[in-house]
Amino acid sequence: MLEKLEKYIKENQEFVANTLDDVENFRIKYLGKKGIVNDLFEDFKNVPRENKKEVGQKLNELKTLIQNKINEFKSVFEESTTTKTGIDLSSPGEPFKTGTRHPLSIVRNEIIDIFNRIGFTISEGPEIEDDWHVFSALNFPDEHPARDMQDTFFIDNIERILLRTHTSSVQVRIMENSKPPIRTISPGRVFRNEAISARAHCIFHQVEGLYIDENVSFADLKQTLMFFAKEMFGENTKIRLRPSYFPFTEPSAEMDVACNICGGKGCNVCKYSGWLEILGCGMVDPNVLDNCGIDSKKYTGFAFGMGIERIAMLKYGINDLRLYFENDVRFLNQFKASL
Ligand code: PHE
Repeated sequence: MLEKLEKYIKENQEFVANTLDDVENFRIKYLGKKGIVNDLFEDFKNVPRENKKEVGQKLNELKTLIQNKINEFKSVFEESTTTKTGIDLSSPGEPFKTGTRHPLSIVRNEIIDIFNRIGFTISEGPEIEDDWHVFSALNFPDEHPARDMQDTFFIDNIERILLRTHTSSVQVRIMENSKPPIRTISPGRVFRNEAISARAHCIFHQVEGLYIDENVSFADLKQTLMFFAKEMFGENTKIRLRPSYFPFTEPSAEMDVACNICGGKGCNVCKYSGWLEILGCGMVDPNVLDNCGIDSKKYTGFAFGMGIERIAMLKYGINDLRLYFENDVRFLNQFKASL
């Protein structure tokens, strides 16, 4: 029995607790009802009388040692986990509420992803621009109404410094600074002097695309946009192109997709036409290529531009543009990003 006691005493001296749980397990192991110490006291009854004194002392030594160990480690842990303010630092933390991505960011990322997959790079440019990059290079005649104070925020009227009204200005910069083949999209924020309502805002977001190479045709444009529409709105999406006018493309078109709310039957979202307009496009006007230093006899190209707000409205059934800018978390929390 003496040997056993020596062994336990040694074990106790070497014991180290790393957590409060370790201390508790240690206590149960030795001092619990069915613990080692109780067993030893049971055995003690059978110790011959002449050895009782020696064994009894060792037994008490062991018990005190255990008690001290427990108290020592308990106080270490209790001190380190409870601050003066009574906050238990070891208790589990409050989970952080994770934010959600803004619906415009979600849709922008989806558009970027779709065009990335067919080889379009991403280009960015300044929001504060000059007349050349926003208008003149893009074949806008001097007296064109889009240059009017009504639509454009001018920063300096004399120098004609302004907030860009479309991201076509980025494409001008790309054409000026690189050689075909060019295949790029330019996502970004644009500004127009419009009264704010459910259907119009003075700030909105666009993704414009440009593809310039030898022998680029209108059929390439149509295929590219068809691919985009199917990826964005689903495999069965139908598109239609209507003739239109932009100073920088010839011929020009607007693209509609079959209304995804009523499936083309007609509803108040598509104003009972069955179609929703989603973008403008066309073949880059040779004047624009020449303005930007690209040989229009050798190269042709197509361009397109879409509003991210509008695509997000159609995708999510949002009916008021102002919701995008109010930052009401009850609105923002509804959208889940897949990218
Ligand atoms: N830049 C045009 C706009 O802002 C969109 C567009 C881009 C149209 C390219 C045709 C070609 O409305």
